[in-house]
Amino acid sequence: MLQQYNPKNENIIIHVGGKLYPRTEAKISVFDSVVQGGDAIWEGLRVYHGGIFCLDRHLDRLYESAKALLFTDVPNRAQIKKAIFDTLKANNMGDGVHIRLTLTRGEKITSGMDPRLNQKGSCLIVLPEWKPLVYDNENGIKLITSAIRRNAPEFLDSKIHHNNLLNNILAKIQANQAHADAALMLDKNGFISETNDANIFMVKNHHLITPFADACLHGITRGLMLELAAEMKIISYEKNISLTEIYNADEVFCTGTMGELTPVKEIDGRVIETKSESKLIKKLSEAFVEKIKLLSEKIPS
Ligand SMILES: Cc1ncc(COP(=O)(O)O)c(C=O)c1O
Repeated sequence: MLQQYNPKNENIIIHVGGKLYPRTEAKISVFDSVVQGGDAIWEGLRVYHGGIFCLDRHLDRLYESAKALLFTDVPNRAQIKKAIFDTLKANNMGDGVHIRLTLTRGEKITSGMDPRLNQKGSCLIVLPEWKPLVYDNENGIKLITSAIRRNAPEFLDSKIHHNNLLNNILAKIQANQAHADAALMLDKNGFISETNDANIFMVKNHHLITPFADACLHGITRGLMLELAAEMKIISYEKNISLTEIYNADEVFCTGTMGELTPVKEIDGRVIETKSESKLIKKLSEAFVEKIKLLSEKIPS
């Protein structure tokens, strides 16, 4: 499903580096690190019923990424939350909204790669948009396996949620060329890692199975699935999953903030028949909706 331009986003207000700007004026410097080297980190968050889902978990991951990349002058948690809340209030947004939260290493004194050229501190961007879920969760999606392998920690650690997205974008291009909805990415050993933009789960004999988070992002939604499974007494574990195993799964689904739980109906032309009588996707989706209420941080009035 190709995302469409939403005219409701024409006049949104965006936070850039401590100030609020209308969409047409929200800009960063050509000297900013994200332009110079994709040297930035990000989080995608969703706003439901007047609250931000799993806000602290997203900020925990952002701070871990910032520490790994040795960012300096990082705004503290209260400052980031205030920036998010102020931006949402300026837009009168409280539901059906996706926030792209970006923290760049900031502006450089001259073009170049060296972080020592960054002498102005980091730059926070809060971009909230009216946005429905991005995948067709009713009918499911088709995947193809990409020839592009997901970065392993020895190359670029997927525990850093960074803006160097070309690894994923190359895989997505391959999926687009093949008229698939997304690309399934393998790790360097040929085991399944994740799709280009979501984590992946399979169900076999009522067990919920997902790849180790070695070469995939340790997704917030992924983590929540494992917590839900424990609460619901569903046996769940991480393991190396081969293509043959996933082709023969009883159910397959992807998880992510942008799409919640998305059933996968086909991988490389192999139909996933949803053979599981337990219909874990449906049960977990319902449990996920319940968690939204419990785990959202209210936008202060
Ligand atoms: C590559 C990749 N995998 C998985 C996810 C899903 O993560 P989350 O559940 O934290 O949204 C994302 C979201 O940003 C992603 O970019």
